[in-house]
Amino acid sequence: MRDAEIRTAVEHFEALLRRQLQRADDMKHAPAARHYTTDTPVTIGLVGGDGIGPIIMEQATRVLSVLLKDEIEAKTVTLRRIDGLTLENRLAVGQAVPDDVLASLKECDLFLKGPTTTPKGGKMESANVALRRELDLYANIRPVCVKEQGIDWIFYRENTEGEYVLGSSGIEIPGALAMDFKVTTDCGTRRIAKAAFDYAKANGKTNVAIVTKANIMKKTDGNFSAICHEVASDYPDITAEDWYIDIMTANLVNPDIRSRFQVFVLPNLYGDIITDEAAQIQGGVGTAGSANIGDRYAMFEAIHGSAPRLIEEGLGDYANPQSILKAAAMMLRHMARFSLADRLERALEEEPFRSAADGRGDTAKGYTDRLIERL
Ligand code: IPM
Ligand code: MG
Repeated sequence: MRDAEIRTAVEHFEALLRRQLQRADDMKHAPAARHYTTDTPVTIGLVGGDGIGPIIMEQATRVLSVLLKDEIEAKTVTLRRIDGLTLENRLAVGQAVPDDVLASLKECDLFLKGPTTTPKGGKMESANVALRRELDLYANIRPVCVKEQGIDWIFYRENTEGEYVLGSSGIEIPGALAMDFKVTTDCGTRRIAKAAFDYAKANGKTNVAIVTKANIMKKTDGNFSAICHEVASDYPDITAEDWYIDIMTANLVNPDIRSRFQVFVLPNLYGDIITDEAAQIQGGVGTAGSANIGDRYAMFEAIHGSAPRLIEEGLGDYANPQSILKAAAMMLRHMARFSLADRLERALEEEPFRSAADGRGDTAKGYTDRLIERL
């Protein structure tokens, strides 16, 4: 009696499969990765986002204007504000990233982006997910460091596929069942694995943890793990270890073993979840930065969300800008402005943010005033 529904679902699935095969094929013809040197001219897009986004982005813009003052004057660096990536606008035009915003972003090389709100359920896709896909930002890189506890981790989260790529394209037979899809391509896995192992090699790391649930997700995670090991064979000085996501989640809070981990490579959703946990160990999601790197574009952002509750309670000015500032430091490093990145990172380390949910701690602006003095 469900024949018509089944037929519709199968047709839908066929279309998805064809598109995913096309995507896998397109990846083979990706452009060569862009590398920056200290004198590469760069246009940086500054995107406010929703909620506390514009508040913390205003402070990040101040910090960048100070650090890049000479280069802005010499016109080797351009800071360009990009408006319009707001939930109201996205809902009004019915696009996760409005066409005109995407076109402006594509005129830049790199972006620093405030958090955007993702409506739960409904049809509207997350702006983040859409941007990562549209700009093919396949490596989500999230460092977490707690020196006193010997923690120096870096996560290479696959950022364009897994559970995310068809997250808004599932099948539902109302009143009976719902199905979502998880997609892992060979090319997509190989490039994130290569990014993780290249980082390990270039930074003297000796261990890469491949984190999956390949005992259960046998096809997608099974392939992910197998391809990571294939890539690992090109890096004989680095040990590649298989871990399951559940025990790794426990290990991160186990002081007896957590400091032995260095580099992690993992599929999208596990990476999403475990990097929030890791950031919490460092002091909270407000303290971690995140880079989304592709071969052509790169986007840098805070790992936290838009904090609508803070805005509703009238406490938006008290938002902690450290996460977006760490992302700004990652951006400076990506564009080969190493000494500027060092200055910003050192100032962030030396200048703690006094957070207080009741509104008696630092404001984003007050904190940034102190930080700028330290630069
Ligand atoms: C992140 C966020 C995003 C994600 C959301 C906002 C879509 O949680 O960057 O980790 O799930 O990737
Ligand atoms: Mg997340």
